[in-house]
Amino acid sequence: GYYQERYRPHIHFTPEQMWMNDPNGLVYFEGEYHLFYQYHPDSKQWGPMHWGHAVSKDLIAWEHLPVALYPDDLGMIFSGSAVVDQKDTSGFFDGKPGLVAVYTHADGDLQRQSIAYSKDRGRTWVKYDENPVIQNPGIKDFRDPKVFWHEKTEKWVMVLAAGRKVQFYTSPDLKQWTYASEFGEGWGEQKGVWECPDLFPLTNEISGEKKWVLPIGIDAGAPSGGSGTQYFIGSFDGKHFVPHQPKEAVRWLDYGKDFYASQSFSDVPDRRVILAWMSNWQYANDVPTDPWRSAMTIPRELTLSMVEGQERLIQKPIAELTSLIEKRMEKEPFFLNEKQSIEIIQPASPFLWEMDVEIEKGGVFEGRLFANEEAGLRVGIDRERNVIYVQRDRAEIDFSKEYVCTCQAPLSGHHSSFHLKLVCDHSSVELFLGDGEISMTNLYLPAADHEAQLKMEAVRGTVEVKQSSVSELTSVWR
Ligand code: FRU
Repeated sequence: GYYQERYRPHIHFTPEQMWMNDPNGLVYFEGEYHLFYQYHPDSKQWGPMHWGHAVSKDLIAWEHLPVALYPDDLGMIFSGSAVVDQKDTSGFFDGKPGLVAVYTHADGDLQRQSIAYSKDRGRTWVKYDENPVIQNPGIKDFRDPKVFWHEKTEKWVMVLAAGRKVQFYTSPDLKQWTYASEFGEGWGEQKGVWECPDLFPLTNEISGEKKWVLPIGIDAGAPSGGSGTQYFIGSFDGKHFVPHQPKEAVRWLDYGKDFYASQSFSDVPDRRVILAWMSNWQYANDVPTDPWRSAMTIPRELTLSMVEGQERLIQKPIAELTSLIEKRMEKEPFFLNEKQSIEIIQPASPFLWEMDVEIEKGGVFEGRLFANEEAGLRVGIDRERNVIYVQRDRAEIDFSKEYVCTCQAPLSGHHSSFHLKLVCDHSSVELFLGDGEISMTNLYLPAADHEAQLKMEAVRGTVEVKQSSVSELTSVWR
């Protein structure tokens, strides 16, 4: 079976074969989570885009379904979203609830927005016969509609990437759209074209205030190189987004190299869950996996809180993930003198595990984890520079000069100790720091015979580890 393939993730979503990029149309409907994705069914390279499709009851195990949307006379099917039309505002569903997909039709350089609907829980789709529903206003990069129902104004709202900003449209029925406003000119990170926006409310856990969060991908210029995802926090009245931050401030949703085109699930009643495409446009087309290319991140629950007086997104792997833990092994607390190192418990499978480590804050030190001597990945905390970093050494196959890199995030000083959680799954490592105020997502392509050495090393100064544990995880393919 395909679950034996080299580098094949066992707890992450991948297409059975061929090319995948962005998650699309994430929606919960009648007991199922739907995951559509940018898909090229004929090749392992990006090409004429389709929407691939899968469903899950628990966001962990996915069932592959046939391709949902094929390219047509209006062009390729680029990224977009899906919603439950609860009140049948569209009139597609004979008064009952149904699914509507909103996506970009891309014909050469011409990008327009279109819709399609499904009357059978997403199994088959009909494209609206009056597509496109939004014509191109003369903007080259005009794509990736994310739609939601805005309670207060009782209208559908669309947020759309438009060059290096976003635009908002509103609609009573998902068919007729009216331009409302735009946001972003000169705001945040402007080094790349903006793509795949999202917009959703979250209540700040500390202040109890309701805020609106606007994540947005940039195709180049992210802190660790290439594509990455920033976000804004502000207010939204159904037409206008007002950011609550200085114009030049930039907040990153993830500090790793491989977290892009994130999207949140629509119509999940009690929480906000996102996932992202786990690759980077710098090398996505060359990652040495076969017969598929690309995976999604672990789904993550988002909350809003205060970190050192600043409002910030908090990101945690969804609670369902703990159901995959087979065995949790704890190590006694330990102390390392400078240059000393120690082995942490080795999991049975070197490439499928979760690790939790709690390091005493202490004075100036640099502690390193998982320092494989060869083709390795080093995760470190450097108290002198006050950063947490992930350093990727060479991959087994030298497929891109951008693979070898170090990404880093600023350490926040508000904790008395540093809690790190790492989730490793065959070709990726996702890192969460503290309560989840920092995440770093990276592909990791070590040699096949390479045993994971879960080591802790005091590179400089002394390191005190209060707690460490390794959990063996079970594959969802079994
Ligand atoms: C982001 C993106 C989107 C576009 C899609 C095309 O990765 O460039 O802006 O809709 O991929 O596949």
